[in-house]
Amino acid sequence: MDMFEKRRRVAICRGPHCSARNSAALAELLDAELAVHGLEDDVGTRPGACNKLCDEGPSMVVHPDKIWYSCLTSDAVREIVREHLSRGEPVRRYVARDLSRFDDFGSFEP
Ligand code: FES
Repeated sequence: MDMFEKRRRVAICRGPHCSARNSAALAELLDAELAVHGLEDDVGTRPGACNKLCDEGPSMVVHPDKIWYSCLTSDAVREIVREHLSRGEPVRRYVARDLSRFDDFGSFEP
């Protein structure tokens, strides 16, 4: 299935600051957790560019929900998969930006 046919897409930042904080390992964990929860067909993942949250990295964006997460840890990724990507409830304590109420901000996804 094409990435853009999936219900949600997640881009974990692979910019220099987040990479130095091991965002690649979190991306692997994210894929593994999606498989555990049977969400591979619902959620696509890909490396993302810098989200301008470098001091709070690792960061990631969930499309099309317009939710930016920061200060990610392994536990945070597991909880975000369980609560947001599975049940649709963003995990507020890791949300850095929530643009979900801006309807006209829909074309940013590359
Ligand atoms: S390098 Fe990840 S937010 Fe800038």
